[in-house]
Amino acid sequence: MEKHASTKPLSRNPHLLRWVEKMVALCQPAALHWVDGSQEEYDHLCGQLVASGTFVKLNQHKWPGCYYARSDASDVARVEDRTFICSQSKDSAGPTNNWVNPYEMKKTLRGLFSGCMQGRTMYVLAFSMGPIGSPMSQIGVELTDSPYVVVNMRIMARIGQKVFDLIDEDFRRVVPCMHSVGLPLAPGQKDVSWPCNKEKYIVHFPETREIWSFGSGYGGNALLGKKCFALRIASAMARDEGWMAEHMLILGVENPHGEKTYVAAAFPSACGKTNFAMLIPPKAFARKGWKVWTVGDDIAWIKPGPDGRLRAINPEAGFFGVAPGTSHSTNPNAMAALSRNTIFTNVALTPDGGVWWEGMTGDAPAECLDWQGKRWTPEMALQTGAKAAHPNSRFTAPASQCPTIDPDWENPEGVPISAFIFGGRRATTMPLIYQAFNWSSGVYVGATMGSEMTAAAAGAVGKVRRDPFAMLPFCGYHMGDYFRHWINMQRSLSETPRIFHVNWFRKDKDGKFMWPGFSDNMRVLKWVVDRARGGGRAKETPIGWMPRYEDLEWEGMDFPREKFDELQAFDRAAWRAEVLGHEELFIDLHAHLPKELLFERELLICRM
Ligand code: OXD
Ligand code: MN
Repeated sequence: MEKHASTKPLSRNPHLLRWVEKMVALCQPAALHWVDGSQEEYDHLCGQLVASGTFVKLNQHKWPGCYYARSDASDVARVEDRTFICSQSKDSAGPTNNWVNPYEMKKTLRGLFSGCMQGRTMYVLAFSMGPIGSPMSQIGVELTDSPYVVVNMRIMARIGQKVFDLIDEDFRRVVPCMHSVGLPLAPGQKDVSWPCNKEKYIVHFPETREIWSFGSGYGGNALLGKKCFALRIASAMARDEGWMAEHMLILGVENPHGEKTYVAAAFPSACGKTNFAMLIPPKAFARKGWKVWTVGDDIAWIKPGPDGRLRAINPEAGFFGVAPGTSHSTNPNAMAALSRNTIFTNVALTPDGGVWWEGMTGDAPAECLDWQGKRWTPEMALQTGAKAAHPNSRFTAPASQCPTIDPDWENPEGVPISAFIFGGRRATTMPLIYQAFNWSSGVYVGATMGSEMTAAAAGAVGKVRRDPFAMLPFCGYHMGDYFRHWINMQRSLSETPRIFHVNWFRKDKDGKFMWPGFSDNMRVLKWVVDRARGGGRAKETPIGWMPRYEDLEWEGMDFPREKFDELQAFDRAAWRAEVLGHEELFIDLHAHLPKELLFERELLICRM
């Protein structure tokens, strides 16, 4: 038994103890460790990961408290084609999810998990998604054979004894989460630095609220509080209980009078959510006292408060951010957050014991070890195109270390949401900014969101993929029913947030981005906030309300009126094709589609 391992149960809850006992009998681990969540335990586990070759301790002068890991080359991202929603009926999962009959899947899982932890330690990891004790928080217990998962989860969620104490009071709300890397060790068998299995299963049972994950140690496949719990299972809970679990960042905009307006925004992956959540206003705004505060960068749990307004919490405690492209110029706040106590996975390792990734600095290091541990130089990259960091390499950093973290980010009551923003990556058609006419037309905007596929994903680059509410891979039930839930939410509200659509990525005739993005997105955000607070001028167009040139704040930026008009142009022919694209999605979801969305589509066509 390892020195710090706590074999003594940290909970007295009989249901939890019985479940752990049953799972020990199934998985047959060599040892059991109840995770108390202490710093001492974290340090010990990191030391153990260094000894086993999974972690490299980084240069502690430059990167205090930081560690580095390389995954197996076959285990680098979420596996959507191996992700299952196992509801009783296939129809409840809908056509956008992989479905298997739950009894059949349980049988498969029992086979896979039988003896799967032999030679390893099973960690009993209790976690709270959301601040401890918040009425909006939810609790899970992950049984995992990966110490890498335990230390990452300590950053991404609230874990340990304080959560067991809550479970001792009440076990009914706990979501059981089983996780194994799927590589048992025979007696005397030497472990590999990144254990995993070719066969992967990321399985959700939304009705019994259980998660089973097998074969992967990476990110959203293995840190089960994140996508599996906080989105797929939570979306089903939220539908049943009248709240919302969304793939959204949350930020607060403070105006020069010190008044704060909170906004939640949904964008598909690789569209700059983390950067937007940590936006630094242009100098001309900052001088006047405008500030942007960060509540969360990926997930929002949103619930009607007693006053009939929506309130949101960030269920996570850390950022699991994509490293490439993150730099002191694109996102200084993220760079500050990841400067210490951070775990880096699949970035490059520099000779001085530091990390590097494409886009981090103007100049690449003269040489480094790439994400697979091979020597990499900029010259070699020029010849072969090889990347030093994997495009999906990540930093796991404590949210509390972000300089713009909102003073209310852990408020148990959440923060009031005044606006929703939807957006995607669109070279044509979509203007920089418009506001939906009302709640149902806003739901239509979210439901029909699209984004151009990037080279990172399989499929035709540039082709628009519909990704409703950025939830396509994360909704735990039928997407049509999810739209219905959004429509219905209005009934429990005395005041609905205003709904907007943005596109930072429109291109001109020469294929150049028309909008600089980053800090200048503040100009758009200010208009959103003005509108949400009942001010801000706009003109009516067929798709919604749009600012005219003079309605945006241009101080400190030289952006010609003609260029703005081009950026905002409503192109009738392009919108004709756009609406036909909406129809394709609607046909897929037809049997469950709320009629409100069909009416909204008709109204849009009439206005066009
Ligand atoms: C993420 C994702 O990791 O959306 O946040 O893939
Ligand atoms: Mn995400």
